[in-house]
Amino acid sequence: MSDEQVTPFQQLGGEAGLRRLVDRFYDLMDLEPGFAGLRALHPTPLDGSRDKLYWFLCGWLGGPNHYIDRFGHPMLRARHLPYAIGNAERDQWMACMRQAMDECAVEPALAEPLAKAFQGTADWMRNRAG
Ligand code: HEM
Repeated sequence: MSDEQVTPFQQLGGEAGLRRLVDRFYDLMDLEPGFAGLRALHPTPLDGSRDKLYWFLCGWLGGPNHYIDRFGHPMLRARHLPYAIGNAERDQWMACMRQAMDECAVEPALAEPLAKAFQGTADWMRNRAG
C-alpha cells in the first residue's frame, strides 16, 4: 500500500487506537480542573459521549462509518446548538484533544494536521460570541 492510501484512521491504530484516544480525551475532561467548563456541558456518565465521538471520528478520519450507520448525517453544528459554545469552550476542547493526542503518543507528523482539522471543526461549532 502506498503512503497516499494510509488514512489517519489507520495511522492512529484503527478502531483500538482511536478508542484509546477518545477515552483519554474524556478521562482528561473528567479529571483536569482546566477542562471543568467543558465537562460541565456534558452529561454524567460520559459513556454515551464517548461512544458518539468515537463512532463519528472513525468515519471522519477515513475508517468505517459507524456514526452515520446509526444516526444518519452528523449535522454536527445543529447537534451542538443546545450547548453554549464560545471561544473558551472551543479552546478547552482543543487543549483537551491536544493533551490526549500527546499522552497517546500520536506522532507530531500526524498530530499537527489532525489538530488543524479539529480546529476548523471546533471553530465552526461556536454558536455564541465570546
Ligand atoms: C468546540 C467545542 C466543543 C464543545 C464544547 C462540544 C460539546 C459537546 C457536547 C456537550 C456534546 C453532547 C454530548 C452528549 O450528548 O453526550 C457533544 C456531542 C458531540 N460532539 Fe462535540 N463539542 C465540541 C467540539 C466538537 C468537535 C470539534 C467535534 C468533532 C471533531 C465534535 C463531535 C461531537 C459529536 C460527534 C457529538 C455527538 C453528537 C450527537 O450525536 O448528539 N464536537 N459535543
